[in-house]
Amino acid sequence: MTDRYILAIESSCDETSVAVLKNEDQLLSNIIASQVESHKRFGGVVPEVASRHHVEVITLCIQDALQEAGIEAGDLRAVAVTYGPGLVGALLVGMAAAKAFAWANHLPLIPVNHMAGHLMAAQSVAKLDYPLVALLVSGGHTELVYVSEPGNYRIIGETRDDAVGEAYDKVGRVMGLTYPAGKAIDELAHQGRDIYDFPRAMIKEDNLEFSFSGLKSAFINLHHNAQQKGEQLCLEDLCASFQAAVLDILMLKTKKALKAYPVKTLVVAGGVAANQGLRERLKEEITDRTVIIPPLRLCGDNAGMIAYAAAIEYEKNHFAALDLNAKPSLAFEDIE
Ligand code: KG4
Ligand code: ZN
Repeated sequence: MTDRYILAIESSCDETSVAVLKNEDQLLSNIIASQVESHKRFGGVVPEVASRHHVEVITLCIQDALQEAGIEAGDLRAVAVTYGPGLVGALLVGMAAAKAFAWANHLPLIPVNHMAGHLMAAQSVAKLDYPLVALLVSGGHTELVYVSEPGNYRIIGETRDDAVGEAYDKVGRVMGLTYPAGKAIDELAHQGRDIYDFPRAMIKEDNLEFSFSGLKSAFINLHHNAQQKGEQLCLEDLCASFQAAVLDILMLKTKKALKAYPVKTLVVAGGVAANQGLRERLKEEITDRTVIIPPLRLCGDNAGMIAYAAAIEYEKNHFAALDLNAKPSLAFEDIE
């Protein structure tokens, strides 16, 4: 059998990325053009700015990904692209590029769900054992997913309001930290103590749902009240307290999910899976399952993860027509 190469494109938010995957698990290239510097001054991603940046660099990223992989378009077997969830304008740029490339090179198009991508980045660490449970934590999503077999994803719990990463970025903004603030808060948290008693929402409830908006509001109120009184709060302690509340919630709900779905493997993925505090607690507290967390470079948005998820869809002969549309609110249950 000849080797199978898949080119994958990701542009759902503020990273333009193109990767080449050889067979099931050899990531030959994963070019990531981050726009974060352009969005920093706005304190968040500006959709229109994101789309424009994607347009500027997408073809260069495709060229670089092929070159670094040492292959040519003619060697490819398929082109994969993120079609949701994400910012509609940003998604459309990657999709237009993927469709044009697929059409010009007579290649089939594989539609990939961005969150399935985050999850399947775990495939870079080890061959996954099914069924499994995944905790997906990113800037836009917080969800527990049951995966019965490759490519079959079912949400078993999710946030009712803010995503974890979003909460990190919002409290970071209040503290004057630059966007995205997750990493900085994580580092400061390691130097502080959990002395502010922030709420752990929904931990007493017997479900797998999350809520982070109350925690975010409690944080903002504490900060605001202290500012009005001219009090100085310790940044490190604030971060440690916030992170302790977040991690308590994530750990408790994940353990609950593992009790309800007694699988052997837990995958933890998405941008917030880069969190060192979360990694430490998973290591300490989940000792009776195999916990798989993608390496840091595959936690944030990248096309490598899209390629891993695409390899499964390829096996299932799951291809899309060239009229595939972007689905900004794509859910796992939606099948194209
Ligand atoms: O998955 P991702 O790159 O993009 C989305 O699909 O949303 O996630 C980005 C999010 C941001 O909110 C960022 O603050 C957060 O991941 N993040 C972290 C850490 N590194 C990135 N949050 C907590 N701790 C970290 N070390
Ligand atoms: Zn993401």
